[in-house]
Amino acid sequence: MNASHVSEFIPSPDEVGARDLMKFMKHIVIFDTTLRDGEQSPGASLDIKAKIEIAKQLERLGVDVIEAGFPIASKGDFMAVHNIASVVKGPIVCGLARARKEDIDECRQALRPAKQARVHVFLATSEIHMKYKLKKAEEEILKQAEEFVKYARRFCDDVEFSPEDASRSDIDFLCRVVEAVIYAGAKTVNIPDTVGYATPIEFGSLIKTIKTKVSNSNKAILSVHCHNDLGLAVSNSLSAIKNGAKQIECTINGLGERAGNASLEEIVMALNTRKDIFNCGTSIKTEEIYKTSRLVSKLTGIVVQPNKAIVGRNAFSHEAGVHQDGILKKRTTYEIMKPEDVGVGGTQLVLGKHSGKHAFQERLKKLGVELEKNDLISAFQRFKDLADKKKEVFDEDLLAIVEEELESVPETYKLEYFNIKRGKNFQPKATIKLLVEDNKDIEESSDGDGPVDACYKAIDRITNRKVKLLDYSLKSTTGGKDALGEVSIRIKSEFGNEVSGRGTSTDIIEASVKAYLNAVNKFLFTKERKAKAEL
Ligand code: KIV
Ligand code: ZN
Repeated sequence: MNASHVSEFIPSPDEVGARDLMKFMKHIVIFDTTLRDGEQSPGASLDIKAKIEIAKQLERLGVDVIEAGFPIASKGDFMAVHNIASVVKGPIVCGLARARKEDIDECRQALRPAKQARVHVFLATSEIHMKYKLKKAEEEILKQAEEFVKYARRFCDDVEFSPEDASRSDIDFLCRVVEAVIYAGAKTVNIPDTVGYATPIEFGSLIKTIKTKVSNSNKAILSVHCHNDLGLAVSNSLSAIKNGAKQIECTINGLGERAGNASLEEIVMALNTRKDIFNCGTSIKTEEIYKTSRLVSKLTGIVVQPNKAIVGRNAFSHEAGVHQDGILKKRTTYEIMKPEDVGVGGTQLVLGKHSGKHAFQERLKKLGVELEKNDLISAFQRFKDLADKKKEVFDEDLLAIVEEELESVPETYKLEYFNIKRGKNFQPKATIKLLVEDNKDIEESSDGDGPVDACYKAIDRITNRKVKLLDYSLKSTTGGKDALGEVSIRIKSEFGNEVSGRGTSTDIIEASVKAYLNAVNKFLFTKERKAKAEL
């Protein structure tokens, strides 16, 4: 970004000290509605305990306002707002109400314990909503909005008003409503793009028109609440900021009705990363973002798509060789944010078929392996062959490649003997004797769904591990009756590491047992090697 671009919005660091730049930045109020609009995501129902856990995390995240629910909607929503109002002390706790006495009374009761409370009153102003849903004329709507903002102000100093479906409302009528509710005492006026219909330039100009046309607009904070039906919620919110909005309503992971709301993490990181464009700050502690996203995903059961900006699994992962090489030389070649700034452990170089030698070598170094040039070339070739067959190559695979290249995996567990008993009316029973670390024999037995399963269970008893079999394949390596059977398996350890194992024998049960022992031994060996590398 060149200096002339920066100075269009803020003085350059040469004109004022870098710290003084902060004084020129506007504060954007972050109004989180994960627990209200976010909970309206199909399939995202949260119980009270989960809502309190999320509210506490939102407090740690540093949001300014938590919209905790819609108290009249259900007893559960009422209790959630009430309990959150009791435990949350930093942010303002807000409850939603239609422009009706019963809703506002319920909201007021629910918010009673709050240190700082806000009542959020809404009433639709678009022709389609007024005509078909509310069956009311403009003048009735105007009167109702005014009346219930005044009513809410009798109990609460902090009242917000939302003209629902504002972006599809007649602009002159919308401006009249906004002016009237500000006179009636609304301290925040929120402009919702309820159905996610607006486009960024249009929405920005709507905010500018309200700011300039409404005579008392400077007496209230202008807010926006954008839905994501066209995937424009974040863009529309940012365009609103450029045109004078001071509060953004958003949700963690972009949850919300239908396609969701503007995502908090995207808004905050856009403001942080492009200060040169927006010249705005928020009170969000960005290092808490990832943790908050994980918690919300876990408690709502709604998984975050891997390529989701900021919090998706791939947001800071690089697979292409050219990118990995660039990142290893200078991180900023392909990263505009530091993963640590949003609480993600660090940049991930995923090893797959697009990865290059540089990333392969670096990962091996991290695992404590330095190879000679020729070994590196052949190990890299084996890695590429494996990556062609497998989406992601894990550390265990890499170490196995290296071991196979250089040395063999020590046999911590060696097969001494096995025996299978089977009959018509009972499950097969395997008895296995292993020589452990070359000095003691251990024997165990187990039933199983088949002879291989029985053997694997007996081995698990001896090794005392909970291993999950992911893959099992058997092929014959030679022709004829006495063909060697080769068993290849993949297992997952209780710690989530995956390893492969291979065993051959003319007896396919014995080949299966050997493959399993090979995988378990590899797992132990790579674990030991990784531990040494971390020392
Ligand atoms: O989308 C919407 O219009 C709302 C209002 C209640 C603010 O959620
Ligand atoms: Zn909404």
